[in-house]
Amino acid sequence: MDSASTYDDPAPVRGHASRAPRALATEAVHAGRDDLARQGLHAPPIDLSTTYPSYDSRAEAARIDAFATDGADPAGPPVYGRLGNPTVARFETALARLEGTGSAVAFASGMAALSAVLLARAATGLRHVVAVRPLYGCSDHLLTAGLLGTEVTWTDPAGITDALRPDTGLVLVESPANPTLAELDLRAVAHACGTVPLLADNTFATPVLQRPAELGARLVLHSATKYLGGHGDVLGGVVACNEEFAGQLRKIRFATGGVLHPLAGYLLLRGLSTLPVRVRAASATAAELAHRLTADPRVARVHYPRLGGAMIAFEAYDDPHEVVSRVRLITPAVSLGSVDTLIQHPASISHRVVDEGDRRRAGVSDRLLRLSVGLEDVDDLWADLDRALGVL
Ligand SMILES: Cc1ncc(COP(=O)(O)O)c(C=O)c1O
Repeated sequence: MDSASTYDDPAPVRGHASRAPRALATEAVHAGRDDLARQGLHAPPIDLSTTYPSYDSRAEAARIDAFATDGADPAGPPVYGRLGNPTVARFETALARLEGTGSAVAFASGMAALSAVLLARAATGLRHVVAVRPLYGCSDHLLTAGLLGTEVTWTDPAGITDALRPDTGLVLVESPANPTLAELDLRAVAHACGTVPLLADNTFATPVLQRPAELGARLVLHSATKYLGGHGDVLGGVVACNEEFAGQLRKIRFATGGVLHPLAGYLLLRGLSTLPVRVRAASATAAELAHRLTADPRVARVHYPRLGGAMIAFEAYDDPHEVVSRVRLITPAVSLGSVDTLIQHPASISHRVVDEGDRRRAGVSDRLLRLSVGLEDVDDLWADLDRALGVL
């Protein structure tokens, strides 16, 4: 059983054994699986237990007390699925290694992950958040509506330091941002935050293209639903951070219940193993498509990050709703980061919940279309876009 590894191993799956650093591509296929060969296994087992037997309630009480103190994974057998799960822990270990952080904590979705961070900060009395637009529409909405009792100040990167208050608990940015692909100098942003933790949403770049923790971000968030899973068949979220923050997030996760299902944990771990290959291949195709779109007279503007990546945003002269309606190979759907190419109209879908004026001021025009480039052949994708763009 999977859990055997976490009981017997003094440096369980979460531990960072002392050994030479490994390249990202190697970590992607081996991290979170280091104990498997010793167990006589090749594929990671899936532990679906919701609870775990214990004939020693005193020991279980001590483990629960220890968890309540700092949120550290209790030593010994797991207690209950909401406290932690060995299969999910493998994904957390792997993602932490890829992002270069001490720990990572997985959640049921990207929004559950963001909610846990906000609640963890608010629990210490720091309810004020400074954020830079654009953000993913629902992240914007969560902050703007104050659904979790937080208060937000929106600013541009140059205004971050001035926006900080004694009760500021978090600075939140995305780079490249959803959906405009606007890029920030994360090192400069982290510097501007002073002692306030910076959360960088790294969903679009992935650790293959950018490791925000190395640039000063204390929290790195992913909608794992996107590139980490990579196949459009699993919802998840994760925060990579140091162990102290991770403990706070595990306590919030335990109390609020936004856990990642073990099957999702398995799929996300599997997704990580091909992440570098998928991101690099899709990025090469996206760079070529961005180039062709830029040269096309039917296209008014193209946004493609200097960093690279598999996302493109563009404005066509034709009605964006018409363009979306004409694709055949590309799927007209929200979300991103799958093996197949998706297109959507942010003003109608991903950023619909953002106030119209705020949306436009953040550069999300009514004409903007967002393309998530997959692994199809570049000429087949171009043929579909060429048809969708219509005649001049
Ligand atoms: C950049 C970004 N962050 C967070 C989220 C939220 O993630 P989820 O849909 O997994 O809750 C999304 C979803 O589209 C996103 O694009």
